[in-house]
Amino acid sequence: MERILVTGGAGFIGSAVVRHLVGKGVRVVNVDKLTYAGNLDSLLSVAEAPNYRFCQADIGDVPRILSLMAEEQVDAVMNLAAESHVDRSIDGPGVFVETNVVGTFRLLNAALAYWRGLDPKRQERFRFHQISTDEVYGDLPYDDGIFTEETPYAPSSPYSASKAAADHFARAWHETYGLPVVLSNCSNNYGPFHFPEKLVPLTIINAIEGKALPVYGRGENVRDWLHVEDHARALELVVTRGAVGESYNVGGRAERTNLQVVEAICDLLDERRPLPGGERRRSLITFVADRPGHDRRYAIDPTKIERDLGWKARESFESGLAKTVDWFLDNEQWWRPIREQRYAGDRLGSL
Ligand code: NAD
Ligand code: DAU
Repeated sequence: MERILVTGGAGFIGSAVVRHLVGKGVRVVNVDKLTYAGNLDSLLSVAEAPNYRFCQADIGDVPRILSLMAEEQVDAVMNLAAESHVDRSIDGPGVFVETNVVGTFRLLNAALAYWRGLDPKRQERFRFHQISTDEVYGDLPYDDGIFTEETPYAPSSPYSASKAAADHFARAWHETYGLPVVLSNCSNNYGPFHFPEKLVPLTIINAIEGKALPVYGRGENVRDWLHVEDHARALELVVTRGAVGESYNVGGRAERTNLQVVEAICDLLDERRPLPGGERRRSLITFVADRPGHDRRYAIDPTKIERDLGWKARESFESGLAKTVDWFLDNEQWWRPIREQRYAGDRLGSL
């Protein structure tokens, strides 16, 4: 594939996908609204590349998206634009419905209109890739079960319900209208440029600064962790080689309790940058009120993408987490403005 329209490319995973594809010579058109989570500082390494273009736009703006698709003659759309934070979805679900459900519905309509105008050869090559999450499968018991592509959807949070709805629309646009859709459902990502409201970057930055480390409930909930660059490689395989109408589960075979994750970060930082007086960072762990509807455990079976597309995670949780801690230690200029509430979107908006 030569030309791909990536939505949400200024976000955490989207920016990793953009950096990866631009590095491989693909022409990337990045469409991002630049919400609080969008940050053009995550794309400085590709900003001047001749095969990269940024457009500030909403995925729900059908005329704008359609004209971009036609102008750039794209071969695929990868939809990563979303509201992505579960806690925000509990406090204010409306925008999750607007972007994740209605926005995806409109983007599907734009893609369908564009696809219908292509010649048969290009129609066959075209893909709409809906990027989804393991959270749509819902709550697993601690001691049993794993998510396969056949696991029924049973979302628990407003966020996961909105992502499940979007996936159903994407599948329906394939079944009903023939749009060549592929889907992928990934586990928890971590890595560079991760917005510091999520567990891993929040813990790293608070621990660097010697602040309290909030852990929900007793820290027993289990997530399956994957380094974001392993996810970006998986997404490239799904969009270029995935079978139309199919979905692929992506995960790192790295289940950890939240407490294990936080303790691992504490220990890595104690080695690298000891606190004054030699205080151990584990003493900063503070158990706080649990998240409502908190799913106990997620676990992904990635056998299908490993077998059919030859993907395999390169980072273990230990190697990936150590690299991530080092990245946050070395890139304070990226996260400091976010902590001080100066987001790229806000800066652009005030110009
Ligand atoms: P993120 O919140 O870091 O980034 C989302 C991006 O989408 C931001 O740049 C934002 O500006 C943009 N955006 C939001 N609304 C938009 C709109 N209406 N139009 C255009 N752009 C808009 O999210 P992320 O963590 O990078 O997640 C990306 C995708 O991957 C999401 O669909 C998410 O559901 C999915 N996912 C995330 C994870 C994870 O661990 N972070 C795991 C599995 C799947
Ligand atoms: O599983 C994939 C999902 O992973 C993605 O679809 C979401 O977009 C992404 O945000 C992430 O969702 P989580 O809710 O799992 O991620 P978060 O980092 O918010 O929380 C991870 C776990 O840590 C979860 O069990 C809640 C807990 N937690 C979170 C925060 C922010 C804490 O204990 N303390 C915290 O301060």
